Amino acid sequence: MSEAAAEKRWTVLELLNWTKGYFAEKGIESPRLDAEVLLAHALGIERLRLYLDFEKPVAAAERTAFRELVKRRAEERIPVAYLVGEKEFWSLTLSVSPDVLVPRPDTEVLVEAMLSRFGDIEAELRGFDLGTGSGAIALALASERPKARIVATDRSEAALEVARGNADRHGLADRVRFVAGDAFEPVAGERFDFIVSNPPYVSPADEAKLAPELAHEPRAALFADADGTALLRTIAAEAASFLEPGGWLGVELAPEQAGFMTDALDEGGFESVEAHRDLGGRVRALTARLAPEEE
Ligand SMILES: C[S@@+](CC[C@H](N)C(=O)[O-])C[C@H]1O[C@@H](n2cnc3c(N)ncnc32)[C@H](O)[C@@H]1O
Repeated sequence: MSEAAAEKRWTVLELLNWTKGYFAEKGIESPRLDAEVLLAHALGIERLRLYLDFEKPVAAAERTAFRELVKRRAEERIPVAYLVGEKEFWSLTLSVSPDVLVPRPDTEVLVEAMLSRFGDIEAELRGFDLGTGSGAIALALASERPKARIVATDRSEAALEVARGNADRHGLADRVRFVAGDAFEPVAGERFDFIVSNPPYVSPADEAKLAPELAHEPRAALFADADGTALLRTIAAEAASFLEPGGWLGVELAPEQAGFMTDALDEGGFESVEAHRDLGGRVRALTARLAPEEE
């Protein structure tokens, strides 16, 4: 924003319109929404409150705070969620920091798919969330199934600190236990009714093609060896030995990974592999079941 523009008297609506145009010019994907979230944060109000305050002038101190956020968003391409420290996921507001992946709407496809598999809402399920990050999936599932108990793991201790804070924030800390460690190692010898994971699944070879925002997210949350399939393959090969008979597995993946992963799950001992799609019709999750015990 130029000095002359900064001196002007600005209303909420004028600031939003100006910032939307600026963000669009800079190639930001959701310019109006980002402008709204950042302005609401700078003003310390709910985003929807802006709509009632369109004609209100914005004080100089708040404009300065907003200008700093706008600059960091546009020039450094820092994701909005890191700038405001939170992100909505499922029905939960989750704290986020650059130690965790920003939870994505794509991952709600996996949450919905798992819930549709569980049946009885009062079931005393035992679950395992591998690579929990902010705790998004474990906390969403625990919030929907009041008797579920979930072990949520991550290789990153820093991520687990964020996840523990989110469990406390939503009163779920007594049912979601966070443990550090690699893949299945923290749950050696245990059996679960379900296992769920949104593992890193991007190929390092694709790094240059990614949106600049992703450079701010933890590398270990995004990239996996073997063209992005390394942890998916481990999950397909090992999950069956950590599930009860009739137990469910659910994984998020890239649409083009659905074919190989369906085969890997067949080989891993699963039956009835099903694909779950986003609103655009792209496969974003697979669920699979272990055969129930014979009567
Ligand atoms: C794609 S992020 C998913 C985070 C969160 N579950 C979500 O959906 O928003 C993957 C997470 O897995 C963790 N991770 C990567 N490799 C792992 C491994 N081998 N064992 C355990 N966690 C791992 C990363 O640190 C990261 O937090």
